[in-house]
Amino acid sequence: MNLVVVSNRVSRGKANEPMTGGLAAALLPVVEKSGAIWVGSSGRVREGAHKEPFAEIEALGAGALAMLDLPAAHYGGYYEGFANSALWPALHSRTDLIRTSQDDYFSYREVNAFMAKALLRFQKSETAFWIQDYHFLALGAELRDLGVKQPIGFFLHTPWPDRAVIGGVPHHRELVEAMLAYNLIGFQTQDDCDNFIDYLSQDLGLDVENRVVTSRYGTSQVKVFPIGIDPQKFAEQAVKAFSHPDVSRLRRSLHGEKLAIGVDRLDYSKGLVNRVNAFDRMWTQQPALARAVSLLQIATPSRGAIEAYGNLQSELAKLVSDVNGRHGEVDWTPIRYLNKGFSQTVLAGLYRTAQVGVVTPLHDGMNLVAKEYVAAQNPADPGVLVLSKFAGAANELDTALLVNPHDIDGMARTIATAVSMSLAERRMRWEAMMAKLHSGTIQQWFTDFVDALQETQFDKAGCEPVVVESPTLWPLRSANSNARYH
Ligand code: G6P
Repeated sequence: MNLVVVSNRVSRGKANEPMTGGLAAALLPVVEKSGAIWVGSSGRVREGAHKEPFAEIEALGAGALAMLDLPAAHYGGYYEGFANSALWPALHSRTDLIRTSQDDYFSYREVNAFMAKALLRFQKSETAFWIQDYHFLALGAELRDLGVKQPIGFFLHTPWPDRAVIGGVPHHRELVEAMLAYNLIGFQTQDDCDNFIDYLSQDLGLDVENRVVTSRYGTSQVKVFPIGIDPQKFAEQAVKAFSHPDVSRLRRSLHGEKLAIGVDRLDYSKGLVNRVNAFDRMWTQQPALARAVSLLQIATPSRGAIEAYGNLQSELAKLVSDVNGRHGEVDWTPIRYLNKGFSQTVLAGLYRTAQVGVVTPLHDGMNLVAKEYVAAQNPADPGVLVLSKFAGAANELDTALLVNPHDIDGMARTIATAVSMSLAERRMRWEAMMAKLHSGTIQQWFTDFVDALQETQFDKAGCEPVVVESPTLWPLRSANSNARYH
């Protein structure tokens, strides 16, 4: 099978470069090994939406990476507008933050249609398409309109909330109907899957039997595929990173004091304000913990042009500064707050240095930082994970210290418990979590989805694959080609 993976953000595979967001970091190693073609946005825009899509193609492991310039006229409406100011807030149950317009929706659909056209060049008779995330809910339907008959799968990396919340997205009905063009629709958790099925039956009046729904496109299977990491590779990276300058500088700066670490995109779904408030509360209520434990919070900016993100950045900067002002000493800073990204390797080393990992989103599809923190620990002296019960990862990592991120006092108490937990208990909890990580790796996730997608082919009686002759773009001229193609 010839697999084409599509996501808005892609990663170029440089281990030492910072990566924004769990999706690109997770997909990179498996896509590299699989020999798939990974298609996404170049992050640049180009005038003239109706012309032939412009892609830069380079080798990526056994396969290739194709980065497309998206149409200038529609990029803002698609990315900042509909995807990240209508879908993202709703998918994270923040309908109060929806700010969008009819034009944004139009641009979102235009970019989905543009991507569909661009994908035709990668199509062969045995191709399967695997579309990632909320940026491309309608891409499958656009591909079908262009006559594509091959299997198309979709995986949502975010939560899928209750039907009443989805009802807050303008054009929700049209979008969910379009999603039924996918043969396989994957979610992170059973709750997400159940919410989606509930929407199909209650809002669209469709019959869903054994997680299979029939629509005008044929049948779609709805299934849970919790995304994982490569725990062994991450553990090795953490050991290797011990001597990295950033990691050894951090270690030297601690002077025996304990460290809690948080690593997030600067996003309102991550619960950063509540987390900082919990540390503030802990130092106020348990002054003995001042100087005994500090927080390193890495908050990587993304989507900065959107008002909600700008507001959060200002609010958080002020809050951190207030807390540091209140609890700091001439030679002690309670919170080290960094607005930049780090490579996976350095992060692995930072996680291993910290005795507590704080992953406390208000709502999160999975949250791979939680899994990475666990994998990076020293087996002989592991740290403690404090994890929000509203992160998808809590389903598997149930021996973490689970918290309600809205309960500031509860979080403060739990962080203090984590700091003083005995070695025996830390090891018991950590070993149970590692076992879960090993039984649900990223490689397994990838294989399970692709196998399930291939199986859907056999369910589609009378659906013969159509071969559309690819123009000039595939196969690549040279494995290392960095050439630009029009
Ligand atoms: C989340 C989304 C991904 C996205 C990532 C980074 O993990 O699920 O689709 O790539 O955030 O967001 P950004 O908007 O910076 O690409």
